[in-house]
This record gives sequence, structure tokens and C-alpha cells, in this order.
Amino acid sequence: MAKKYTLPRGTYDIVPEDEYKWQYIIEKFRSVAKRFDYYGIATPIFEKVEVFERSVGDESDIVQKEMYTFVDRKNRKFALRPEGTAPVVRAYVENGMNVSRQVSKLFYYGPMFRYDRPQRGRYRQFYQFGIEYIGSDHPYADAEVIAFGSLFFKELGLQNVRLEINSIGCKDCGSEYDKALIEYFKPYYQQLCSDCKKRMEKNPKRLLDCKNPTCKNLAQSAPAMLDYLDEKCENHFLKVQEYLNQMDIPFEVNARIVRGLDYYNKTAFEFIYDKLGAQNAIAGGGRYDGLVKEFGGNDTPGIGFAGGFERLILTMEEQGCSFGKLSKIDIYCVSLGESANLEISGIIMQLRKAGFIVAYDPDKTSMKAQMKAADKSDASFALILGENELKNKSVILRELKSGQQSETNQNKLIEYLTEQI
Ligand code: HAM
Repeated sequence: MAKKYTLPRGTYDIVPEDEYKWQYIIEKFRSVAKRFDYYGIATPIFEKVEVFERSVGDESDIVQKEMYTFVDRKNRKFALRPEGTAPVVRAYVENGMNVSRQVSKLFYYGPMFRYDRPQRGRYRQFYQFGIEYIGSDHPYADAEVIAFGSLFFKELGLQNVRLEINSIGCKDCGSEYDKALIEYFKPYYQQLCSDCKKRMEKNPKRLLDCKNPTCKNLAQSAPAMLDYLDEKCENHFLKVQEYLNQMDIPFEVNARIVRGLDYYNKTAFEFIYDKLGAQNAIAGGGRYDGLVKEFGGNDTPGIGFAGGFERLILTMEEQGCSFGKLSKIDIYCVSLGESANLEISGIIMQLRKAGFIVAYDPDKTSMKAQMKAADKSDASFALILGENELKNKSVILRELKSGQQSETNQNKLIEYLTEQI
């Protein structure tokens, strides 16, 4: 027997029984995007590794431990994208989008890759949906991006998703805060995990995000960023909250949100569903005002968020949300005898051209087997073509629910079915 192959760890197949759920979510996402005036963008699944090193951050967990990197045949170093913001900003600059219009509002979805320990809601290949609002530093933009997420989750039928927001300040007040954190953690240096020891030097805010129980415990009493915001950042944060209130979007301020990527400043936020357990963030995002410049563009602000399909689907399933329905078959075709088997292929093609969803199984030959399959398919009609109908240039249409049957002329077929379905 040939060897059976299995999936790489941390990946999964989207099987037909689940694929329609994904389509449902994508359709809803696109529908919300349209109403918020966003336009689609797609970037390659791999990028030069510097795209992520420079933006997500050399010292971030993603770059340090989680990136899938490879060299190609010419020894160039690439990474499978671990996230979507850096590639979108790269594309924004490379395609001169900053020149053609002042503001770009972009949406995307697709697979991302992170080498992490797989667990419920955490995969090595996972799928994100995301938006980026590039070109405005107005607090309204922050609130609108958050409002997008809020409406999207609402329209999917989700309940009890909490929105947590924070401000992590700008370069100026952020570095004052870093100093305060270093002061606070210094006496506990020896107790910190090895990652946090490094974070003390490179990015002290990440100390607040550590999952190690000792570090987590120490972080509880650390100074809060909100006490260190300068006037500009504080006003911005207050305005964002005013807009959210005006838009009727409930939120909680959580001063512990720091986010795991280095490009953020000012507003940071997460949509949390507590029952998901350890991986409870359905989506997260924030402002990244320095990123476009980092990629060689003009000094252009931006803000966005991304969410994971897997955690969203887990939540929707747990809450019994609807995923719409698999498309229902309109007509199940049944043919009897060699000539009818050939003739039916032309009829099927006409029906499909006319827009009907048609099923047919050439491997089933008996009337009994085909009618059984027709019943099982839950189609509206069975269309039967046998020797007699072939002679009469007709077909039999059987409405499967009622069992009512009638003979219809082949050239009236489309007209008749259009009225019935
Ligand atoms: P992130 O917080 O790293 O942000 O990821 C966003 C979301 O992707 C998470 O909240 C989670 O739902 C999902 N996610 C992340 N890693 C995994 C994983 N290993 N398995 C399953 N789901 C996962 C970003 O990626 C930023 N680019 C978001 C952003 C957009 N910020 C500004 N614009």
C-alpha cells in the first residue's frame, strides 16, 4: 500500500462541510467593507524578510521565533507572511497609492503563517481578515476602524464580544513610560523570564504582555501607560472614546493592552471573547503612524485591525450563529438508457447556462438508485429523461416535496422551471 501523507502540524483542511461557513463570513466582511467605503487589496503570500523585520520588529516574538523563512534558488531570503499590515503598507508605497489619493481604505483576507505551539484557536497556517485606513490621523479614523469590527461581529450574530481599548502613546511619551517600566521591573530582574530580560533592554512595554506567571504577576502592579500620555496623545485617546460613545459602541479601557507588534503607537484595541480560553482575541489592531515612512513613503499615519477566521468560527459555532446555508440544488437529473445518457448532457448544460444549480451522477444507472440520490440531494425537482421522453422531445419533472409529476416539452423547459424555482 502506498504511504499516506498527513498535514503539517498546526495546519488543517477546510472540507466542503465547512467551506460554506468561510464563504458566508467573507461575504459579510465584503458587505461591511463596501458600506464603510473600503476597497480590496491582495498581496503575495511571501515577502522579502526585511518587510517584517523592520516593521513588526526585530525583537518581537513574531520575528524572533515565529516566522517561516526560506531562501530561494538565488539565495534570497523570504518569509511567509505572518501578518497583513506590513505587506499592505509595502504595497501602498510601492503602488504610489499615497500619490493618487490622500486616504486609502483597504481590506484583505487570506492565509498567514506563524510558527507557534498549536492549540485551540492557534494554528501555524491561519486565516485573517483585516482592514487598513491609511492617510488620516484623525481620531474619527480610529473610531471608524473599531466600528467596522464592531458592526461586522454584530452582523455575524456574535454576542458577549468585549472591546478593550488602550493608548500606548507616541515615541515621546512612550519612551518616558519605558523608563518608568524599567525602573519598576529593575528590582525584580532576576525573577523575570529570559525573554523579559531581553525585553527590558529592547522593548519594555512587551513585559506587560508576557504569559509567564511570574512576569504576569509582577506586571499587575506596574505603572500604567495612561498615566504617562502626553497632552496630544491623551486628547486623541479621549476623542476616540467620544466618537465611540457617539457611535453607540461599548468599550472598556484596558491599560494592559500593548500588542505584540512593534509598529503601533497611540490607539491599540482588541475584541475579546472570554470563553475561547487562552487564545481569546478574535481581532486586534491599532494605529501605526510611522510605518508608511518606514517603508520609504511620506510621513503618513495609519490604523487598522485584523481578526482570525478560526477563532471567529469557533465563537460562532459555540453561540449557535447562522452560517447561511449550502446552496440548494435546483434540479437533479436522471437518465435511463444509453441514448438518454448522452442526450441529458446537453439539457444539463442548457440548464446551467440558464443559471440553475444542477446535479447529475453518470455512474448511477438504475432508476431506483438515481431517484434515491435525487431525494437525498434535497433538490426542488428531479428531471427524468427515458426512452419515451426522448421520442417525444420532452422530460418528466417531478417536484420532490409533493411527488407531483408532469411531462414538459424540452423547448419549454427553461421557461417552465424559471417560473417554478
Ligand atoms: P495580531 O493581533 O497579531 O495583529 O493578529 C490579529 C488576529 O489574528 C488575532 O487577534 C487572532 O484572532 C488572529 N491570530 C493571530 N495569530 C493566530 C494564530 N497563530 N492562529 C489563529 N489565529 C491567529 C495583526 O496581525 C495585525 N496585523 C493587526 C493589524 C492590522 N493592526 C493594524 N492593522
